[in-house]
Amino acid sequence: MKILVTGGCGFIGSNFIRYWSKAHPDDQVINFDKLTYAGHLSSTKDFADNPSYKFIQGDICDEELVSQAMEGVDTVVHFAAESHVDRSVLDPMVFIKTNVLGTGILLNTALKHSVKRFHHVSTDEVFGQLKPGEDPWTEDSKYMPRTPYSASKAGSDHLVRAYFETYGLPVTITNCANNFGFYHDPEKLIPRFITNLLLDKKVPLMGKGENIREWLFAEDHARAIDLVIQKGEIGETYCVGGEAKTNLEVTKAILKFLGKDESWIEYVEHRLGHDFRYGLDDAKLRKLGWKPEHDFDTWLEKTVKWYQDNKWWWEPLLKDKPVVDRIAQKNYVQSV
Ligand SMILES: NC(=O)c1ccc[n+]([C@@H]2O[C@H](COP(=O)([O-])OP(=O)(O)OC[C@H]3O[C@@H](n4cnc5c(N)ncnc54)[C@H](O)[C@@H]3O)[C@@H](O)[C@H]2O)c1
Repeated sequence: MKILVTGGCGFIGSNFIRYWSKAHPDDQVINFDKLTYAGHLSSTKDFADNPSYKFIQGDICDEELVSQAMEGVDTVVHFAAESHVDRSVLDPMVFIKTNVLGTGILLNTALKHSVKRFHHVSTDEVFGQLKPGEDPWTEDSKYMPRTPYSASKAGSDHLVRAYFETYGLPVTITNCANNFGFYHDPEKLIPRFITNLLLDKKVPLMGKGENIREWLFAEDHARAIDLVIQKGEIGETYCVGGEAKTNLEVTKAILKFLGKDESWIEYVEHRLGHDFRYGLDDAKLRKLGWKPEHDFDTWLEKTVKWYQDNKWWWEPLLKDKPVVDRIAQKNYVQSV
């Protein structure tokens, strides 16, 4: 089988290709990635020379190049996106272009090439925020996005569904909780906190750290997508949940693994529109046979260790982060 992965030089996409190449060694994998600030060839170093792997540098908004890349492809797994909420507050247009227009171009091209499956990778943030006491979201929950990032992802989800309903394109969608793990860009919360502490810098925690997120190890997300591609129903959406933690709990766990106390926390103001809680009911996916194999505490500790052992990967990336400083000045930092 020939599989086209978009955004395979990003955090989850690179973990997905690593997983897929082991789980399906006979498949040919094409990685189509623009290499934005979030795409790193260094994240693909361990599989880049695999004979069944091919990298194409390109923009999903470039119709001609997308069409060439999709020649003979059976399955598309679409990760490529602008994904950092804080950046979407500063510069929404690039989110609208890549996440909405780019997804539209991929869908149109997939239809022309009669691909057998188009799997779209989305987020729980399309549902907005849960207030205290509200039930977790299901696949039928109302879309209520509150940031340019989540609104652009919501737009892409609607387009994917429309291509199924209108043209019969065989699609599936997953809406996943926050991921953590190896090769996570150091401007996102967990890697930012780990790398700050490794550099003896304080960690900026918003409010009292009371906001709640669900966390899933990236490989478990890859396994969920694999299962949905193999056994999911065409045209359906599947929620992929994680373990609920307050940001303070996450911060304290990282501090503990690095042998540091709470004086390393610097409490800062909430960013505008900081969603209080995300939470998913993933019973539908579990009925297909999925459950996470990596628990939060053990794999957060392994993630901390990975950052300790792999400075070669993240240290060069910090040089390219002026925008994060701009965001920090506005107290927007800490998107997760
Ligand atoms: N990170 C999370 O916790 C999380 C949770 C749920 C869903 N998601 C979704 O999963 C997907 C991947 O997220 P991530 O955290 O790995 O993102 P990321 O920002 O780490 O990686 C995005 C990748 O897409 C590439 N890209 C961006 N614009 C492109 C374009 N126009 N053309 C081609 N490539 C382009 C980048 O170069 C990068 O390699 C996204 O669609 C995101 O919405 C992420």
